[in-house]
Amino acid sequence: MTPTELERYLDDHKLMVEKQLDGFVPSANRPPQRLNAAIRHSLLGGGGKRLRPILVLASAEAVGGRKADLLPMACALECIHTYSLIHDDLPAMDDDDLRRGVPTCHKAFDEATAILAGDALLTLAFQLAATPIAGRTDGVVLAMIAQLARDAGIHGMVGGQMLDILAENRETTLAELQNIHIHKTGALIRASCLIGATLGGGDPEQIRHLNRFGEAFGLAFQITDDILDVIGDARIMGKSPGTDKRNNKASYPALMGLAQARQEAQNMVNEALEALSSFPPTADPLRALVSRLLDRTH
Ligand code: IPE
Ligand code: IPE
Ligand code: MG
Ligand code: MG
Ligand code: MG
Repeated sequence: MTPTELERYLDDHKLMVEKQLDGFVPSANRPPQRLNAAIRHSLLGGGGKRLRPILVLASAEAVGGRKADLLPMACALECIHTYSLIHDDLPAMDDDDLRRGVPTCHKAFDEATAILAGDALLTLAFQLAATPIAGRTDGVVLAMIAQLARDAGIHGMVGGQMLDILAENRETTLAELQNIHIHKTGALIRASCLIGATLGGGDPEQIRHLNRFGEAFGLAFQITDDILDVIGDARIMGKSPGTDKRNNKASYPALMGLAQARQEAQNMVNEALEALSSFPPTADPLRALVSRLLDRTH
């Protein structure tokens, strides 16, 4: 898949996901208007790459599944992700003013509204995830809802966010930092691939490989996020760089420098590609996506 073909693939799938998201959230003139306006502001107001829903769809495609059936589940992943960003930006956490090119939720509204908008998106996610899927048993859908809860919660993203905060203002080892990144960002990305592969009808071997792909992709993704926090451009990223330094965060560049951080990300990209080695061309979008990860500017 050429870079242009990947761009088109990402644009098409982003549009597909955004159209669904728009239909799933109440309009801003429906009560409670302030809550609905805040949800729309963060979920749809500034865009976003829609990486996690695209990974759900592309993983289903890799195993020959029907993508259209997985759109509610893909949107569930985006709702959880957006809630995590709203809360991550709060003054009590990273204290950021800019997200997806627009003011953060608590800046555009207020802290209480931002907390509630996050809560509402997390809850909506599980409503969407509970949508029956043609050709799949309720049992397998239920198993994926439980998987999503685990990876979004204590033993996944939320747990990782706690570790991230506890690692502020102190030295960390590489093993500790890796553990933070695997949880705060990796878990949801891995879950996207695992859920897409499973609900797409993959066999146990394919599911195992795509889970491994997601694990490596997730870690590489957060390492590149750390790198962009040092070298990125706010206008391109839609969020302010320098946040990690200001908050004295544990990050790959802080621990080992930019060059070594890039090398670590490259190692993970190679592992992710390796995990796809037995797949037919249906996995080409995933291959192209991970191959371009180190070039990303947002
Ligand atoms: C940002 O995620 C937060 C991390 C977990 C690194 P993205 O870089 O996917 O943000 P959006 O969704 O495109 O805004
Ligand atoms: C965020 O990591 C991980 C989340 C679960 C939201 P960061 O704090 O590095 O994400 P950005 O840089 O604010 O997007
Ligand atoms: Mg953070
Ligand atoms: Mg942050
Ligand atoms: Mg960051």
